[in-house]
Amino acid sequence: MIALHTSELADRIFIADGSCAEALAYLADGAGLHSNERLMMLIMLDALNIFSGATMRHSLRVGLQVRTFCTILGHTARDAARFGLYACLHDAGKMSVPITMLEKPGKFTAEERDLVETHVKQEFLFPEQFSRCHRDPFRHALRFHHENFDGTGYPDRLAGNQIPEIAQITRLCDFFDAVRQDRPYRKGLSLPKTIALMQQSQGAFNPKLFKVFRNEIGSIDRCHLRALH
Ligand SMILES: [Fe+2]
Ligand SMILES: [Fe+2]
Repeated sequence: MIALHTSELADRIFIADGSCAEALAYLADGAGLHSNERLMMLIMLDALNIFSGATMRHSLRVGLQVRTFCTILGHTARDAARFGLYACLHDAGKMSVPITMLEKPGKFTAEERDLVETHVKQEFLFPEQFSRCHRDPFRHALRFHHENFDGTGYPDRLAGNQIPEIAQITRLCDFFDAVRQDRPYRKGLSLPKTIALMQQSQGAFNPKLFKVFRNEIGSIDRCHLRALH
């Protein structure tokens, strides 16, 4: 068993980016993971950082937003921390997609879109080191975070409460963060434009969750560290 404190290890891994170390330590502490589970989590985030710093920062922001939103929803502190961690790896499967394609300016072709959509199927990423109680929600956040509440999402076209709660919550925060950020082919949207777009896309979200999210959008927008941008 490797006995490194989470924040020590985070400092080593993200030594060049103190803000990431802070976010990671904040997310991991309070979630009650065993040390080998924390180590696995950090290794996976480090790999994601090497693959794409922007994707890793997006993942950490979504994790922080999910944690804040879960607290607003009334989850216990430990469950909110755990949900935040599970959401942190929602896009880990993007490591299976060529980075040059992910970062290309302009829209994806249909073929490229199909390839990008395979990122939700990389369930091999969750190894046996995670105990069963964590492995399933980690998988759910990864596999189902592009499912829409109205059944029009992918990969399994689940609808309503067939979609696990962690995936419904991650769907909201992931959509929110993705449109707020600059992309190679467009500028990030302002907060009012983001709200308008989310309202137009309401079929994607659980309406009860969306109502709370919209009411609390200011605190969710501010919860991540400015340095993560
Ligand atoms: Fe995704
Ligand atoms: Fe994402």
